[in-house]
Amino acid sequence: MSRTEVKTVLAEGKVGEKILVKGWVKAFRSRRFIQINDGSTINNLQAVIDFEKYEEEEITRISTAAAIAVEGTIVESKGSGQAIELEVESFTILGDADSEEVSKTVMQPKKHNLEFLREQAHLRFRTNLFGAVFRIRHATSYAIHKYFNDRGYYYIHTPIITGSDAEGAGEMFRVSNLDAKNPPLNDEGEVDFSQDFFGKETNLTVSGQLEAELAAMALGKVYTFGPTFRAENSNTARHLAEFWMIEPEVAFNDLNDNMDLAEDFLKYICSYVMEHNADDLNFLNEREKKEDSQKPTAERNELCLVDRLKFVVENGFERITYTEAIDILRNSKPFKKKKFKFPVEWGTDLQSEHERFLVEKHFKKPVIITDYPASFKAFYMRLNEDEKTVGAMDILFPGIGEIVGGSQREERYDILKKKIAEFNIPEEELDWYLDTRKFGTAPHAGFGLGFERMVMFVTGMTNIRDVIPFPRTPGKAEF
Ligand code: 4AD
Ligand code: MG
Repeated sequence: MSRTEVKTVLAEGKVGEKILVKGWVKAFRSRRFIQINDGSTINNLQAVIDFEKYEEEEITRISTAAAIAVEGTIVESKGSGQAIELEVESFTILGDADSEEVSKTVMQPKKHNLEFLREQAHLRFRTNLFGAVFRIRHATSYAIHKYFNDRGYYYIHTPIITGSDAEGAGEMFRVSNLDAKNPPLNDEGEVDFSQDFFGKETNLTVSGQLEAELAAMALGKVYTFGPTFRAENSNTARHLAEFWMIEPEVAFNDLNDNMDLAEDFLKYICSYVMEHNADDLNFLNEREKKEDSQKPTAERNELCLVDRLKFVVENGFERITYTEAIDILRNSKPFKKKKFKFPVEWGTDLQSEHERFLVEKHFKKPVIITDYPASFKAFYMRLNEDEKTVGAMDILFPGIGEIVGGSQREERYDILKKKIAEFNIPEEELDWYLDTRKFGTAPHAGFGLGFERMVMFVTGMTNIRDVIPFPRTPGKAEF
């Protein structure tokens, strides 16, 4: 008999049907009720066994976390909580799990704190919580590909090893196979990277944007979806050293088109998850409500997870310029009462306390901030007519902060060349990028969505380490 997945049994199983199910024991109660889960859904199938028909040592092997195969007949459930259950006719333990050992792990069915779960990232997939998170992570990833594919975009695989620093922030991990103890030196006594594997200094990419721009200038509409790496030493709940980014790039789009695309795209992802992941989403929603009920009122979510997603889908994002944002902040209560830690002045970057105020207190909805001062944005952003600001856009989400960063690109050869010099980037490193501005340059725009930040938003998880299977953060690269 071939195996039927639990999800299929629960959705389509008919009373009287004989089936084979394989999964892991989530719980075994009263020596009668086995809760089986196989990962296909958050819901368990209840299998009912007549323990008197079996030897004692066979029954004791049915323990939490063990892998089991069960054959039986679907019957109407006598208990409440499920419509059908499986009457066990025979079972095989495929893999034993020692109860003593299980009790020390996150597989023990009880509430664990998230830090403890992180220490056992190799086992936390087995918990309801992480099952839900990773099924939704998958759906989010699929929705992103579907969104672009349905609209005629091409998926471009940009390099992971690169010689350039797209963001110019210098937060890169070097890729080298030189002898770390005894590297070759040049005449100045510095490491001679011309003798390295690629004949020059290389690093892990911080963004696929520059390469995506080359593709967009021929294929029109493209996107990347790949791992990116940043050696920024920020040990926050929103930063990873290895994260995934989606970067659409579109020829002939200006900043407004770019904002429209980003808004439509983010709304689509939220709708997709609501439509396709109802069981997992409801589980996370209920979990959040329970957690909230134990918190002081001020720390509770104003809207529950599902309502937050609905809210994003149903409401327009607020669009303001950086200059307007500074005005709002300088007129705000926390500014006047000196509650902000960082200065609010035209020309200084917005800090997360300012972003949170704008999104969570002032507008209470997603906000797109545009036209930042050129000085603290990347070299490739298009210079505005005022020659002080650039066509940048950051999208800020409640509870997350910056979820998207993007811009219209500087398509004018001379201005771009000047910018590269001003940013002290050696021109020969970017001649390939400048070339696109020589052969039929055109206005174009794009943005980057931090994938894990998006997954945080759609799952309601508040630490980015809990939405990626194996987080990499300063001091941590386990598994
Ligand atoms: O704003 P960023 O740095 O923009 C770029 O890299 C552009 N090249 C994108 C583009 O225009 N094509 O990064 C984009 C997004 C951020 O808004 C944030 O959501 C996410 O990537 N991000 C991180 N996510 C997790 N951990 C980190 N350390 C992140 N750094 C950025
Ligand atoms: Mg940014």
